[in-house]
Amino acid sequence: MPAGRTGRLAAVREDGPVPEIRPYRAADRDQVARICLLTAAGGGDATGVYSDDTLMPEVFALPYVEYAPELAFVVADGDRVLGYVIGVADTAAFVEWWEREWGPAFATRHPSPGAPTGHEPDFTEAQLIEAGTAPERMLIAELAEYPAHLHIDLLPELQGRGFGRRLIDTLRDALAARGVPAVHLGMDAANTGARAFYDRLGFHELPSSRTGSPLLGIATTDASDATATGSAVSE
Ligand SMILES: CC(C)(COP(=O)(O)OP(=O)(O)OC[C@H]1O[C@@H](n2cnc3c(N)ncnc32)[C@H](O)[C@@H]1OP(=O)(O)O)[C@@H](O)C(=O)NCCC(=O)NCCS
Repeated sequence: MPAGRTGRLAAVREDGPVPEIRPYRAADRDQVARICLLTAAGGGDATGVYSDDTLMPEVFALPYVEYAPELAFVVADGDRVLGYVIGVADTAAFVEWWEREWGPAFATRHPSPGAPTGHEPDFTEAQLIEAGTAPERMLIAELAEYPAHLHIDLLPELQGRGFGRRLIDTLRDALAARGVPAVHLGMDAANTGARAFYDRLGFHELPSSRTGSPLLGIATTDASDATATGSAVSE
């Protein structure tokens, strides 16, 4: 990793070790899937919301660590994973891989929505299954300028301690080191806490963002932010 905003990956306080940011390992896979589920309902626990708890991670977490483990970073306390950021550098190439490698097996595992759960999420199970089989949804209009995209999720106990900012910086540094100029994300409009976080970090709305489905972006280096946003540099 280049010298960047992140600095040291690990931290040790005088009163003992604190959670550290480190690269993803294959052994983290199940914990990443679980964190995805525990934060997938507008930032809260989505356990039992859908007929199959594997659906959410199979759409929003596991394809990422399978395709680009080198762009996945976790916050870990020993062997316990408490949060992650995952991303892909080239969304268009990821979509091709998904169509070829991930989608067919996903469709076999999840051919149709299961029995009703008693929950009625805005993002229905049918839509979730479609998201798993139609990766072209990720081909946003701004892909040439913002080729990368990301997801970030922290367990409640880790939230509000600065790790979200540090994870985003870690991924931005890794993308910048690969020559990727900017990264985007789509989010649930109801997740107001996450929106406040992204705004605070300097993400901005992309032209194709919609009120119901915000689309945000940011340059991977602070120096190129002005170029990506088109804003003037103040002196
Ligand atoms: C959203 C999330 C990633 C933010 O990570 P975090 O570690 O809690 O945020 P940080 O502590 O790094 O906060 C960074 C900055 O954002 C601000 N911020 C974070 N959450 C905020 C909130 N809910 N309201 C207002 N500001 C907020 C902090 O005040 C902080 O500002 P500062 O650095 O200038 O002091 C994390 O809370 C999370 O995973 N939530 C549940 C899952 C989720 O919603 N994921 C995103 C899906 S799109």
